Amino acid sequence: MIYLADTANIDEIRELFNYFPMEGVTTNPTILSHENKNMSTVIPQIQECIKDKMLHIQTISERAEDILLEAQRYRDYFNLNDNYYVKIPVTKEGFKAIRLVKDAGMKVTATAIFTQQQALIAAKAGADFVAPYVNRLDNISSHGIDVVGDIVETFKSYHINCKVLGASFKNVDQIYRVSMVGCHAVTASYEVLEAIMKHPMTDKGVMDFEKDSKNLYDI
Ligand code: G3P
Repeated sequence: MIYLADTANIDEIRELFNYFPMEGVTTNPTILSHENKNMSTVIPQIQECIKDKMLHIQTISERAEDILLEAQRYRDYFNLNDNYYVKIPVTKEGFKAIRLVKDAGMKVTATAIFTQQQALIAAKAGADFVAPYVNRLDNISSHGIDVVGDIVETFKSYHINCKVLGASFKNVDQIYRVSMVGCHAVTASYEVLEAIMKHPMTDKGVMDFEKDSKNLYDI
């Protein structure tokens, strides 16, 4: 399973990429709005931090043809290459846009997915990743983990070469459980990523080792 950072905060991205085996960054309008910076400022800063790792940028246009133009605009403006993923919400126009963007030679992450069928249709349209929203499903008394598991199984049964990128996580347990149902990738906030890589017993163990090593480690 690969880990991506669901943030546009440069300090957080720098820290995560410095310490952990991160594979990329995902953004959307809400995430960008938290930084209070224009896209033209923040995207190059992210690129600088992550180098050739994956960068997922969400489109905001409504019509499929406009989504394609928008995706091409970002690709050209930011000089993006193979690590660029066009994030497209799975509206009716979005499904059409997935095909157009793929035909134009770009990679696609189909986003805002809430059902197995949305994921299957997005994959059939050519998406490279589908992003089911786990916590938002849990919050409407549905079951995010089950939806992720169903999508993984469906792709396996039909030999579909599309990866599941679990998104919208609020806690460590959700990430643990999607990893146990075969989710290929997750994108999560700095706080959640920090929390999954930390354990108080590890910290205590290290403190004890440090104490016990006094005067013994003389080489
Ligand atoms: O990547 C999806 C995401 O940003 C939505 O997450 O936490 O707003 O449900 P959340």
